[in-house]
Amino acid sequence: MLSKILPANVAYAETDVDVPLDLAWPQEWSAVTRAVDERRRQYVTTRHCARRALSQLGLAPVAIPTAPDRSPVWPPGVIGSLTHCPGYRGAAVARRGTLVAVSGWPAPGPPSMFAAEPSPPSAPAPAPGPSQDHIDLALSAIGIDAEPARPGPRGLLDRIASASERAELAALAASCLGTPAPDGSATELPATHEPATDSPAPDGPAIPWDRVLFSAKESVFKAWQPLTHLGLEFSEAAVTLQIDGRFAVKILREVPADVRGLSWHGRWVIIDGLILTVVLVGTARSRHAVSRAGLPLT
Ligand SMILES: CC(C)(COP(=O)(O)OP(=O)(O)OC[C@H]1O[C@@H](n2cnc3c(N)ncnc32)[C@H](O)[C@@H]1OP(=O)(O)O)[C@@H](O)C(=O)NCCC(=O)NCCS
Repeated sequence: MLSKILPANVAYAETDVDVPLDLAWPQEWSAVTRAVDERRRQYVTTRHCARRALSQLGLAPVAIPTAPDRSPVWPPGVIGSLTHCPGYRGAAVARRGTLVAVSGWPAPGPPSMFAAEPSPPSAPAPAPGPSQDHIDLALSAIGIDAEPARPGPRGLLDRIASASERAELAALAASCLGTPAPDGSATELPATHEPATDSPAPDGPAIPWDRVLFSAKESVFKAWQPLTHLGLEFSEAAVTLQIDGRFAVKILREVPADVRGLSWHGRWVIIDGLILTVVLVGTARSRHAVSRAGLPLT
């Protein structure tokens, strides 16, 4: 499922079946010795996924212990992120500096999207502009998050969203209403999103926008903290979700100098009853630029 939102050269592994607890490495076990069984299983299985993903990068299996800030400790030169929720464990890893293709529009424009995947038919046309840059991102950080595709608890948005984010979500929800969905419900998921297996809430939209926003912000945090070793409040990241599965990220707090110039790219998908989000952060490198007529710009 992560393949829907990850670029090709980010390795990943995921599962809905827990592995035996004795697959934990000794250096990892101390983090969960006092934990309940479910917590142990998610911890061990997610690390098993991480080792499978590392092997796709040609890396030998290693312990992935937990840092004091609770982030996973990756081998030198590797960046990555872990997530688990009921019925799902996932890991994504890449070598630091890996180039991933993203295509975007000239700033200040709408956020970028991954070039590897063609635009879905329902995606809005690129904003007017003189050129379309083809950008490689040299990766510095990855954040992934999985959540059940159900509306969040009452009051979630008050806790995590600004007034403008709430207004944007209301507009997104309104723009989705009224279209008959393949399952006969009142709302259609965007073309990039495979319908969730669980039914949409009877009196609400099929897309639980509040939980999508929450997941996006969790992914932002998981990329942010290993990069900066600083905290980040929900109010300190502005996330603009788009119907086509992208989201833009703007950090609203003071950013360390070495992180200031980095580019943030978010993607989300709803599939098999899960919301999955990813945030990729890196240095944007313009590969080439073409005019809107397809001619190279000089
Ligand atoms: C850390 C946090 C993001 C985890 O998200 P979650 O939805 O609760 O749980 P998930 O299963 O998706 O992810 C848990 C994994 O995140 C990773 N993680 C935990 N703390 C982390 C950190 N500081 N940095 C990066 N990754 C972290 C760990 O790998 C953890 O799994 P593990 O303990 O088994 O190793 C969340 O608990 C949290 O503290 N949120 C508050 C901060 C925040 O989100 N601010 C919003 C800023 S916009």
